[in-house]
Amino acid sequence: MSSTIPEIKVLPNPAAVAAEAAERVAAAADEAVELRDTFSLVLAGGSTPKKLYELLAAEPYRSDVAWPRVEVFFGDERAVPPDHADSNYRMARDALLSKVPIPGDNIYRIKGELDPPEEAAKQYGQMLKERFGDDGPDLVLLGMGEDGHTASIFPGTPAVAETKHRVVANHVEQSTTGKSWRITMTAPFINRARQVMLLVTGANKAARVAEVLEADIDAPPRYPVQLISPAGGRLVWLLDAAAAGMAE
Ligand code: 6PG
Repeated sequence: MSSTIPEIKVLPNPAAVAAEAAERVAAAADEAVELRDTFSLVLAGGSTPKKLYELLAAEPYRSDVAWPRVEVFFGDERAVPPDHADSNYRMARDALLSKVPIPGDNIYRIKGELDPPEEAAKQYGQMLKERFGDDGPDLVLLGMGEDGHTASIFPGTPAVAETKHRVVANHVEQSTTGKSWRITMTAPFINRARQVMLLVTGANKAARVAEVLEADIDAPPRYPVQLISPAGGRLVWLLDAAAAGMAE
């Protein structure tokens, strides 16, 4: 378990998780815009956050969130073009970004089409350095795989041990998109966030959730998601009852 004590909230089902997350994203946006006139939001990939993105694209959030003051980044991307079915950008664009008044310049896409993927990682990391310096984003959204991966930090891959770079290219042998190259933010950069929110649903993840949340806080992390421990920020797990089913 990470050293940051997490807030854990269990909701009845995936729709309730998305609704809770939407409320919290909107609240974080209001606070950030009030304090700093901008809200830096890192989107997660995969399938879980799609319901959240669709809620944020609809009323009341379409009107309530100060979208012109929002900057959107991506926690990871598959090494594919932006219109590819596997693209995290494409999912976010179709579910949210094409439906809210966010300026195009405020959307920072990972260029998964670049070859080699290390070039995409280098460019994205340089952009993050220029944008954040030694600081981090206001809110990072993450998911978790059954194997305990988060973003594209998969067990046994070089990204797990990365401590220098904000973004790396990472070759993954077993992922939701099979053997593939990914570009991912690293745990040290994610941990600079003011808040990290993990959205995990489904009975297929219950065993891993229980193992991660009940692990000894001082024991070495067995899974990449346990690397997520925002030093000066909040760590929130939003779980549905199925994913929380085996946790005490
Ligand atoms: C990705 C995501 C990845 C995802 C988990 C959970 O690019 O696939 O960044 O880390 O969050 O694999 O995926 P689901 O939400 O589809 O279960």
